[in-house]
Formats: sequence, structure tokens, C-alpha cells
Amino acid sequence: MGGLTRVPGLLFGGDYNPEQWPDEVWQEDVRLMAEAGVNLVTVAVFSWSRLEPAPGAYAFDWLDRVLDLLHAHGIAVDLATATATPPPWLVRSHPEVQPVDATGTRLEFGSRQGYCPSSPVFRAATVRLARAMAERYREHPALAMWHISNEYADHTAECFCEESARDFRRWLRHRHGTLAGLNSAWGTSCWGQHYTDWEQIEPPRKAPGPVNPTQLLDWRRFSSDALLACFEAEREVLKEVTPDVPVTTNFMSVLRDLDYWKWAAAEDLVSDDAYPDPADPRSPVKAALSYDLMRSLKRGPWLLLESAPSAVSWRPVNVPKDPGVMRLHSLQALAHGSDGVMFFQWRQARYGPEKFHSAMLPHGGTRTRQWRETVALGADVRRLAEIAGSTTEAEVALLLDWDSWWGLEAPESMPSDRLRLHELLLAWYAPLHARGIAVDLAPPDRDLSSYRLVIAPNLYLCTAERAAALAAFPGQLVVGPFSGVVDADDQVHDGGAPGPLRGLLGVRVEECRPIPDGGSQEVVTADGTRLLARTWSEWLSVDGEDGEDGDGEDAGSAQDVEVLARYSGGPLDGRPAATRRGTATYLSFLPEDPAPLLDGMLAAAGITGVTGQGLPEGVEACRRGPYLFLLNHGDAPATVPLPALAAPRADTPPTDLLTGRTLPAGPVTIAPRDAVVLKS
Ligand code: GLA
Repeated sequence: MGGLTRVPGLLFGGDYNPEQWPDEVWQEDVRLMAEAGVNLVTVAVFSWSRLEPAPGAYAFDWLDRVLDLLHAHGIAVDLATATATPPPWLVRSHPEVQPVDATGTRLEFGSRQGYCPSSPVFRAATVRLARAMAERYREHPALAMWHISNEYADHTAECFCEESARDFRRWLRHRHGTLAGLNSAWGTSCWGQHYTDWEQIEPPRKAPGPVNPTQLLDWRRFSSDALLACFEAEREVLKEVTPDVPVTTNFMSVLRDLDYWKWAAAEDLVSDDAYPDPADPRSPVKAALSYDLMRSLKRGPWLLLESAPSAVSWRPVNVPKDPGVMRLHSLQALAHGSDGVMFFQWRQARYGPEKFHSAMLPHGGTRTRQWRETVALGADVRRLAEIAGSTTEAEVALLLDWDSWWGLEAPESMPSDRLRLHELLLAWYAPLHARGIAVDLAPPDRDLSSYRLVIAPNLYLCTAERAAALAAFPGQLVVGPFSGVVDADDQVHDGGAPGPLRGLLGVRVEECRPIPDGGSQEVVTADGTRLLARTWSEWLSVDGEDGEDGDGEDAGSAQDVEVLARYSGGPLDGRPAATRRGTATYLSFLPEDPAPLLDGMLAAAGITGVTGQGLPEGVEACRRGPYLFLLNHGDAPATVPLPALAAPRADTPPTDLLTGRTLPAGPVTIAPRDAVVLKS
């Protein structure tokens, strides 16, 4: 029995929009859902205008019938609070509910998810509907979980209206206390921005030039919090009326707009919508990273609440999934800790912007490849039911900090706008993934003591407290370039980078030297390995070198800071590029391929991949509790050495849970776009 909901085993199903279909189709829907093994559907995500056609006048009868019908066929419901799109009557009677963009334009009705997160009218209306839904369905046996709103920050991540300005000022008062505090934190002495009244402060609307970066940083924090307040207001009502029903909202994978560490703490279960692009060869690794983030948010199972059976409809070119790819991608999510496979959507729409988005049941009906693959996947998911609830132990953590992300990507004010946090994470994640090494994501202030290796691809914003916490970490630590640059207010630390990390790392960054697009800088490791730096390099000083002694008791000395690699050629020739002090490594550059450095770090931390050896290209190996997933994303058969872990006893050859087949002794061969799931 999985722990996420009271539905046993793994969850399988998708978004179901019965209001788009006549009643007779519903009968066919539930019959076909049973055929495919669907045990959970998400209902009512965009149903506000159909459930509350006039203020306070509810029309629940159709939804009652839907829930009854689903329950009668053994299908549980992830019930949305239906608040994702405010109805026309609300936006016409209260135009201020619609969001305003950075140019001051109020956006029109006619799409979805258009609302001002700070609007008291909007929040009150959502809470009223959430209460009505909770009271109506509190005892309904189909109700398995609550789904608040939909994909917060999709379409509307921020609103620049007057109401948002008022809310922003309240938030700023709470953060900075006094106007003097705000002026100091925002550095308003620069460019003549000194404020003498709170009312003078506005959201960072479109301005003639670059906007104050601290104002922007606070705005991003505020905007994440404003949406979170919408979520929390609904959650409070649901918890009051149905305290035992788990609450979620569907996340959007690796998303810059929302601080998911904070958000996840406010929900009972983490769920995610993942749409890897079938046309992007990096999709498997990007998906794996986002799934590992989801698993890390609450350090346990999560739920893939939406994915595409085949093509989406919102990319410029929407490439379908080849035969077997839907299954493979679904198994990948299970491998990385999802307790189910859910799709957008059950039945392909006949109208609206998503009529060409794939579905479990396509326009062509049941005599289609898509339908046959849907039914087959349902059977695979049932075969894997026993994995529900199992967890992954990772020895490596990648640090992810939303404050640093927001600060690093401030427009028009950085040494280079080519440092993108998602890419920096991927640069480290990809080689770990290729080696079959389990990776957690972690916020810098989490207890990291269970890991052997912690990598901070970038910690642009680093406070003294965070630096102290990292210094206390006993394992191998790697800090990437342009870290420890600013404090919590985006102000550069005295003496420059790495600021409070200086004592730990024993280095000083004298100068940032971004590398132009297409350019590179050679770096040579102590053992003569040549690496290429792209995008970024630094003029680095090691305390003790250049006749320097360091300038404090916690500064390093030439004796205890080892230079692991030096720049070669150009103005940086011979200067340190990578250093180690004790267990802390600093990289002042972005290696095109971090593998040669990574292998040394893994060896120092005593970490080997799942198989104990390398993996063929395109093969992913992922352990989840006693289960080992081997996934072949490639176009050719792949042969994988079977790890000892998967075959604990010589007399019991491992069995593939997907086929029931006992595997012969020796390496396993996996067909293209196929997988095996072994239990040890
Ligand atoms: C998002 C939304 C869904 C649907 C899908 C389409 O995930 O939550 O309502 O629009 O995208 O890919």
C-alpha cells in the first residue's frame, strides 16, 4: 500500500474533464478507464464557472454524478478545488481580479489562470468555493486527495497592479521593519532611489533601464509568497473540513518562480507535472533531475500528476512520443520515486487550445497505437504495485537555493547573463546520472550529514549562517564559481567572493572573467589532464601564494590549500583554477566536462554507481529501495553488467518484475526504449 493516498499500490490515470462531454460519453469513459486499469483521476481543475455559475449559487449536481459514477467503477478522485480560473461573472464584477503585467496592462479574460494573487476579492472567492467543495464532498468515498488550484505561476507568476503594490509594501515592512532598513537593504543611494514614504515604493514595473536588483530579488520572494498565501488560504479550509484528506498542488518541475522548498513544506504530498520534450536528446537527464528534486522536497515518494501520453500542444513544434517512449518515460518517473503515473489528459479534447494535445484515449478512439500503449502501461503499473512507498537513499546532494537563483539571474546587472542555474545544476547532475549515482537536491540549510558528497553548483547568495553550516559538513564539499558573492540583500560581501566561504575554501576571487560565447580557456589538472573552461573563469588567489599571508585566523595558508588545477594560456596562465582545502573543493571555472574532476571527488568520497562500473550511453540505472530500474533511452540494444546488489544470491537469479522473466546469469541486455525492474 502506497503512502500518498488511501488508494493501494501505484496510482494510474489522468486529468478528466467530463464537463466537456455529454453524459453518455461518461459511461464509455468509466468502462474504458476500467479496461486500462485507471484507479485515480483528477477532476474539476477548470470547473469554477460550471460549479458556481453565479455568486454563491452552486451547481454541484453534475459533479455529484461524476464522482458517484467513478466510485461505482472503483476509481478514486484527486478533486481539484476548481479555483484555477476565476469565472466571467467574477472578473466582470471585479476587474481588479485580473492580473496586470509589468507594463501596466491589465490582461483580458479568455484564457485561464488569470488572477491577481494579492486580490482580496479573488482570495475570498477561492476560499468560499474551496469550503463549498469540501463540505459537499467531505464524506464522498471517491475523494482520495485535494488538488488546490493548478500549476501556480503558470501563466501568472506575478501581478503588477495597485493591490499587488499594497501587498508588496506590507511584505516589505515585515521583512525590513523600517524605511531606513529598506533603503539600506536596497542600496537606494545608488541611482538616486532613496525613499521617504512607503507609498513611493512600487513593484518593479517596466522602467527606462535596469531595475534595482535588490528590489527585484525581494519582488521574486514576495511573488512566490503571494501565490503561496493563495494556496495556504485554501488549504486551511480543506484541513478544517477534511483533516485527513491529503492536500497537494501540482508543481512544474525545475521552476524558477516558486521556492519549492517553502511550498513543499506547506503540502501533504508533492506532485509534479513533467513534460520532457521528445525531440530533445537531453530530455531523459532533465527529467531525472526534476524527478529527483520532487523526491527530495519531502525526502520520499511523490506523484507524477501530469505528463503527456505523446505530443503536447504548446511548443512551436509538438513532436509525438515514438512507440515505447510513453512507457519508458513513465517507468523513469517511477524509478525516481513517483508513486504513480498520471497524464494530461484522459480523453483528447475536441475543442479549445488543447484539442491537439495527446491524451490516454485519443480522437481516434480505441483502435489506435496510443490506446493500446495506454492499456499496456496500465498493466505494467499494476505489475509494479509493490514498489509504492519505497524510497531512495542518495549519497550525493546538489544544493539548490532559490534566493541564489533569483539573484544570479537578475537581468542587465551581472558580469554575464550566461550563468543559468538550471544549466549549472544539469552540468553536474548529468555525469552523476550517467554513472548511475543517486542524487538528492537539498537547500543549503538542510542537515547534510547523511551525504558523503555535496556539490553547490552555485551559491551566489550566501550568508554567514549558511557558510557556517557548510563548514560543519564533514563530507566532501564542492563549491562552484561565483559563489559567496552577496549577502541576503544582494550586497557584495566585504572583500568580494567567496565572502563568508573564504575561511572554508582559503581562496579569494580577485576578478570575474566571463568567457565570450564560443570561447574557451584551458585548464590543466595537477596530473596533466586538460580541461576546457567555457562561459566563466576567475582570477583566483590562494592565500599564501603571490606573497600573501591571508588576512585572518580563518583564512587559508599556502600549506593547507592544494591547487588541483591551473589555468593554462592567456592572462590567467598559471593561476589557480581549482583548489582544495581539507574536504572543501573550489572550482573557479565552469568545466565543459566536469567528469575528470568528478571522478576524483567520487573516489575521495568512496562513492560508486549502482552497477559499480560505467553504464552504456543512454542507459539509466536507478535504485529505489530494493528495486533496481535499468532503462535504455537509446536506439540500440544495450548490455549492462548486472550489479551484485541486484543478484544477492547466486542461486536466485533476478526476475524482471515487468515481464516475470528470470534473467540469465551475466550481463543484462535491454532492447531500445525498454527497461527491466529487478528486485534484490
Ligand atoms: C499543464 C496544465 C494542464 C494542461 C497541460 C498540457 O500541465 O496543468 O492543464 O494544460 O499543461 O500540457
